[in-house]
Amino acid sequence: MRQIWIDCDPGHDDAMAILTACAHPEKLHILGISTVGGNQTLHKVTQNAKNVLRFIGADIPLAMGQQGPLVKPLNTAPEAHGESGMDGPYFGDGDYPLASENAVVYIYRQIMACPDKVTLVALAPLTNIALLLRTFPEVCGRIDCISMMGGGISHGNCTPLAEFNIYADPEAAHIVFHSGVPIVMSGLDVTEQATVTVAQIGSLQNRGRVSHLAYELLHFYNESGRQFGFTDSPVHDLCAVAWLLAPEIFRGSRRFVDVSTDEGASRGQTFADCRPVPAHPANALVLEGVDRERFSALLLDALARLDRGYHAGG
Ligand code: RIB
Ligand code: CA
Repeated sequence: MRQIWIDCDPGHDDAMAILTACAHPEKLHILGISTVGGNQTLHKVTQNAKNVLRFIGADIPLAMGQQGPLVKPLNTAPEAHGESGMDGPYFGDGDYPLASENAVVYIYRQIMACPDKVTLVALAPLTNIALLLRTFPEVCGRIDCISMMGGGISHGNCTPLAEFNIYADPEAAHIVFHSGVPIVMSGLDVTEQATVTVAQIGSLQNRGRVSHLAYELLHFYNESGRQFGFTDSPVHDLCAVAWLLAPEIFRGSRRFVDVSTDEGASRGQTFADCRPVPAHPANALVLEGVDRERFSALLLDALARLDRGYHAGG
């Protein structure tokens, strides 16, 4: 059983990652979920997290983190995720309990109280994670690894060189990559292979209650992905959870990865030292490939489990 904490900015693909994690309580114990400004404002992504957790009847602690990046203003992504940050389904009224403490303090207390090491699952700009590691450096020794969706060695998406989660807060990402905490990096090199097909999305429409929710989310996200040149939309964030559940479907290399915090064209770029003798020891397992069929099957199986009411914290 792996103890995990999920930091996210739902976000259609964040929602798939959360649902898949909730569908495997036999493997993943979710200590809690935190939100951070990213895809949309902190308020909107927190409301989206509440809606997803309420929809499946979860009983998982939820805490709100930072409004935006450490240094620069927040630039949201309505073009990808819509004005709500998770356009598509209508969740209706209803609420979900929210911790009174800021997520950074809440995560710290949860990790230090946990008898086992904790895996951080980072699906958003790394602002909360960076503040956690800097404010409470003693927590680093209690973290098994950070399984993150972020960056890209060969290319970006926000800019030719930078991926959204890193570009949103490069200073935070630099802190995390230089923290000494082991990283499993699901960058665009692997996440753009991690797709669910239009036919697979269609198969969810009338299969069950949670599957239908996923249909509404993925149908919107897939249509939105077309503007960026994708026929089948990558479910980026799900890779960070899928690696925890089925590492064997991925392949990768251990690399030293650094982050550019410059002001120029390279701002937010994650670059790896691929020389035969790199200048620094590896700080990340950089995922480079995934078995798409087995990846998409993991999601569809998780949704089927949730349709049957099998989930964490319920
Ligand atoms: O670049 C993809 C990342 O940006 C994902 O985390 C997605 O949710 C958006 O936040
Ligand atoms: Ca995200």
